[in-house]
Amino acid sequence: MAEASNPVPGMTRDLAATAEAPDPVRGGYLATRDRVETYFDRTATKTWERLTSDAPVSGIRATVRAGRDAMRDVILGQLPADLTGTRILDAGCGTGALAFEMAARGADVTGVDISPQLIDIARKRTPNDLHHKLTFRAGDMLNPRLGSFDHVVAMDSLIYYTAADIAAILQGLAPRLRTNMIFTVAPRTPLLMAMFRIGKLFPRSDRSPTMVPHSPARLASALTKGKLRDIERVTSGFYISNALEFRP
Ligand SMILES: C[S@@+](CC[C@H](N)C(=O)[O-])C[C@H]1O[C@@H](n2cnc3c(N)ncnc32)[C@H](O)[C@@H]1O
Repeated sequence: MAEASNPVPGMTRDLAATAEAPDPVRGGYLATRDRVETYFDRTATKTWERLTSDAPVSGIRATVRAGRDAMRDVILGQLPADLTGTRILDAGCGTGALAFEMAARGADVTGVDISPQLIDIARKRTPNDLHHKLTFRAGDMLNPRLGSFDHVVAMDSLIYYTAADIAAILQGLAPRLRTNMIFTVAPRTPLLMAMFRIGKLFPRSDRSPTMVPHSPARLASALTKGKLRDIERVTSGFYISNALEFRP
């Protein structure tokens, strides 16, 4: 795969990350993706590394970690128990926890993330007996050079995108997706909607990317093809996330 230059010294991107967005939403998608990359690759890399490790974390973060553990189980529960012979894309894989679990169940997993730093952590954390089942790539999840997959999972990696962007992402992946994609969104609860509105009052440059809450019904109506199914919501302290299934 071609390498593109990366702003972080010593790190390289495996996949060129400029031209993958579907045309209708290109501007918005790329602007959000760039903000997400800055956040995870620079501002919050250490925090995210710790949250996704076994190291002790404070009370609020512990509730988030517990919620995320529960969500990982929900997503795994949607996949066949034996994944031998399947190819799975972990889209926005972060430090790799879900990818490791799917590889341990027999899948050949490609983990892709826009943050080269998180991909580096995922590679370092790969258990010795799973190296042959895992490929980690730094770059855009929509890059067609990643290939075709039986399943795609995207745990909390689409939570910053608008409904139009998510619809375009699903439709962009659909031709290379054989069975289904399991992904999560932030649900439209009164608390998350209030946080979203307050977040929009602050300048975009100096804070983390804002989550965009969604209702499954509105997301479904943004799709021109394929079916959406509401799976389950996980709430744990400050963590709240809703799992959905897309079938092309
Ligand atoms: C909240 S983190 C979740 C990481 C991982 N899925 C997990 O649950 O631990 C969101 C991740 O999505 C990645 N991401 C967001 N948009 C992306 C895109 N368009 N292409 C690749 N990665 C993306 C971010 O870099 C970040 O690592």
